[in-house]
Amino acid sequence: MKVVNVVGARPNFMKMAPIIEAMNRHPHTIEHLLVHTGQHYDDRMSQAFFEDLGMPRPDVDLGVGSGSHAEQTARIMVEFEKVCLREQPDLVVVVGDVNSTMACAITAKKLGIGVAHVEAGLRSRDMAMPEEINRLCTDVLCDYLFTTDRFANENLKAEGVPEDKIFFVGNVMIDTLMKHRRLAERLDLSRRWGLDRQGYTTVTLHRPSNVDDRSTLEGILIALKEISAHMPVVFPVHPRTRQRVEAFGLGHFLGNGSRPSGVWAVEPLGYLDFLHLNLNARMVLTDSGGLQEETTVLGVPCITLRDNTERPVTCVEGTNVLVGSRTDRILEAAHRAMRGDIPEGRVPRLWDGMAAQRIVQCILQHGKPACP
Ligand code: UD1
Repeated sequence: MKVVNVVGARPNFMKMAPIIEAMNRHPHTIEHLLVHTGQHYDDRMSQAFFEDLGMPRPDVDLGVGSGSHAEQTARIMVEFEKVCLREQPDLVVVVGDVNSTMACAITAKKLGIGVAHVEAGLRSRDMAMPEEINRLCTDVLCDYLFTTDRFANENLKAEGVPEDKIFFVGNVMIDTLMKHRRLAERLDLSRRWGLDRQGYTTVTLHRPSNVDDRSTLEGILIALKEISAHMPVVFPVHPRTRQRVEAFGLGHFLGNGSRPSGVWAVEPLGYLDFLHLNLNARMVLTDSGGLQEETTVLGVPCITLRDNTERPVTCVEGTNVLVGSRTDRILEAAHRAMRGDIPEGRVPRLWDGMAAQRIVQCILQHGKPACP
């Protein structure tokens, strides 16, 4: 079976790494190649992850880069179509919910190629999120829908997806976390930065709803500043957020000296360094999707600066609380976490480090989808 695996943006890499590893165990039955769309192209957003995760270099780099949603999606489709025509795969595997995910799913399906979506069925019900549109468009087309939790299974069934397309396999992102946890624990970054165990907060922020509006972004930065009066706040800044902070003249909120103090803005970190920091953090403030899942497994309080989540299992079973973007609500949750008043979490079912193996077994068992 010939498979094209697709990655495009930062959160895709840690999802694809274990799938490639699992496919490598079947060299006689699966031939696979890796396509990188180039949606993320900065070394710190892309190359660093290949190195940390020991991923092979992409066989094909589409080099599409940034642009409006339509421009970026269209460029990916035009370039990916050429790859599909050249390689004639039996199956295309896409992960997550970024523009690359949707663009490649549509392109392959229109050529009559089977498509598998890893992390299917997640729904925020928020159509203002570009990712929600990507998720809906991708899932409706796919032949294999690999899900991470019971909510995703229910969402797909409620949308009328035939049950024989839904495969509850667990969470590939957690496969990667479990594989690298020991290594991350042994790093000495927190010692070098003078950060005490449980004595600092980590932050990530990049959603358009949080960073593209000046007053929302300022409200969040005010909250971070107040938290930094109690403990260092380590903030690896996404390029999009960096641009907005500068454009809105909010740079004075961010310290960038050589030691953590105040809201300490650093360049985006690699996978291992960031996992290392999160392992020992008092709490994590984020608007990321994946971090809600990782903190649930690490047992670290996660304060999510959003009004909704496509990953409700992290709130129901894990350590995640949704607080939105208002200064007072962020601070209320942060003070609770500082007092140790945090949700008691458990690890959701099948988040056990074996999801990628289940995916590959399933593909081997069911074979090339009958398309169209
Ligand atoms: C994308 C995903 C989002 C994911 C996030 C993780 C979509 C719609 N969004 O958002 O779901 O959570 O990645 O990071 O697919 N830029 C750089 N260097 C890069 C990449 C981007 O400087 O390597 C800057 C560019 O100015 C670009 C902007 O960041 O215009 C936004 O990049 P883009 O890929 O459009 O979306 P993200 O905000 O990164």
